[in-house]
Amino acid sequence: MNGERNSVLEMRHISKHFAGVKANDNVSIELKEGEVLALLGENGAGKTTLMNILFGIYRADSGEIKINGKNVHIASPHDALRHGVGMVQQHFTLVPSFTTAENIVLGLKELGFIPNTRNVESRIEELGMRYGLPVNPRAKVWTLSVGEKQRIEILKLLYKGAKILILDEPTAVLTPQEAESLFKAVKKMVDDGASVIFISHKLDEVMEVSDRVTVLRAGKVVGTANTAEITKNDLARMMVGRDVILDIQKPDVEIGKKILEIENLKVKNDKGLLSVNNLSLEVRAGEVLGIAGVAGNGQRELAEAIYGLRKAEDGKIFLKGRDITNASISGRIKEGIAYIPEDRKGTATCPNLPVSTNLFLKNTITRLVNSTHFFIDRKKISEKASELIKDYSIMTPSHRTPVKLLSGGNIQKVVLARELSRTPSLIIASHPTRGLDIGAMEFVYRTLLEQKRKGAAILLLAGELYEIFRLSDRVAVIYEGKIVGYAPPDPAHIEEIGLMMGGSKAGDLQ
Ligand SMILES: Nc1ncnc2c1ncn2[C@@H]1O[C@H](COP(=O)(O)OP(=O)(O)O)[C@@H](O)[C@H]1O
Ligand SMILES: [Mg+2]
Repeated sequence: MNGERNSVLEMRHISKHFAGVKANDNVSIELKEGEVLALLGENGAGKTTLMNILFGIYRADSGEIKINGKNVHIASPHDALRHGVGMVQQHFTLVPSFTTAENIVLGLKELGFIPNTRNVESRIEELGMRYGLPVNPRAKVWTLSVGEKQRIEILKLLYKGAKILILDEPTAVLTPQEAESLFKAVKKMVDDGASVIFISHKLDEVMEVSDRVTVLRAGKVVGTANTAEITKNDLARMMVGRDVILDIQKPDVEIGKKILEIENLKVKNDKGLLSVNNLSLEVRAGEVLGIAGVAGNGQRELAEAIYGLRKAEDGKIFLKGRDITNASISGRIKEGIAYIPEDRKGTATCPNLPVSTNLFLKNTITRLVNSTHFFIDRKKISEKASELIKDYSIMTPSHRTPVKLLSGGNIQKVVLARELSRTPSLIIASHPTRGLDIGAMEFVYRTLLEQKRKGAAILLLAGELYEIFRLSDRVAVIYEGKIVGYAPPDPAHIEEIGLMMGGSKAGDLQ
């Protein structure tokens, strides 16, 4: 792949602002024929905005777009498709009650009144086979997994003859195997003459899938490089604007006695179905047990049951040998459970209350701040809050600022400060870095590993395997509410783990 190729797309000097935010600031990118261009950037860097402009969802404040050398005006996704531009958005746009085939041909005029369904279906099957993206054309979309829905979104664009395909953070919802198949499909597309813009904030996949990479930071282009000529560390530095430590060392900690023990636990989800179903596991002092799994396999219900937010239908939960299956939440907090929930603004904090109140929400129970009997000692609280704000480098105008005005990373720091300053013996961390940028992520990793060093047992529930590998001592795979197997946190076991995540136990296949 070199510079001799024709340019199929140029976006030049694109700017776009939303109330108070410059989402794109004089951004220029170029896509060449038959290449994969990665758009790399942290959350909020402006990647989706730029692509929404290209796909006709937003209109740029200024700048121009050229396709195959000609200036074009794209006012809607329909316009975009007419110019051969198709986008798979982060949130899918399929009609659940329609079949795969119906969704794919939706909006195509040339089919006439009564489309020849058989033809359409076999054409879709063919396309799916060609790209290694198998779908069932007759299945109703609501019955399908996210991975299948994404395949349909991609096939829809190929079916409609898109030549420039935009994939916005496509791997966020996939198992490692599905991601690998997607990378193969992307390579096939470019072999067939299409050009692909692949959006990501993950360095590994950018290195794997792209020919060139353009890095965005805070709405501006930081630089563009040939992927083969740049290192992961360079990209990381460009993305965050400083050096980051990507290989965080796990501290060498002696694994101690059992802290958490779960026996044959059953927990129902909000629909009243058993989503934790006979699950057993244990975590010891100083140990991080990573739970890998595709979202929706009981992770949330498991975490909530351990913390006491959800009742156990059956089975037992022990903390340091004591049965806490039916203990109150406050009882569990007193016993030393800390919970970093996935839902930062709903469960974890009270968004309208000040930072200081959020920092001490739980201390009426633990009485960590010495209040004199009936009064809350405001001076003490503000002193203690300022201390935590400093220790956890929480960027906030003051401890009186409502939490909702902080950035995602800083809200997470408030949660960490509150949960971890109480020296817990068990930490349940659910997606602790979801939506955070690399800098904040690094902080969360360090903080959790510091707790491990102090002897806490940590149950880590995360969707991203690299996060689990980076922190865990052992990896357990959850599938349909059960632990289906264990593996060491080593990339050599990715395939085995992925198979278990997808419901086929490694040992079942030959
Ligand atoms: N519809 C919108 N209204 C207001 N602000 C928006 C809107 N879309 C994006 N933004 C803001 O623009 C910036 C860039 O967002 P986005 O393009 O989604 O970033 P990325 O895809 O790189 O994560 C962010 O600060 C985001 O909050
Ligand atoms: Mg985005």
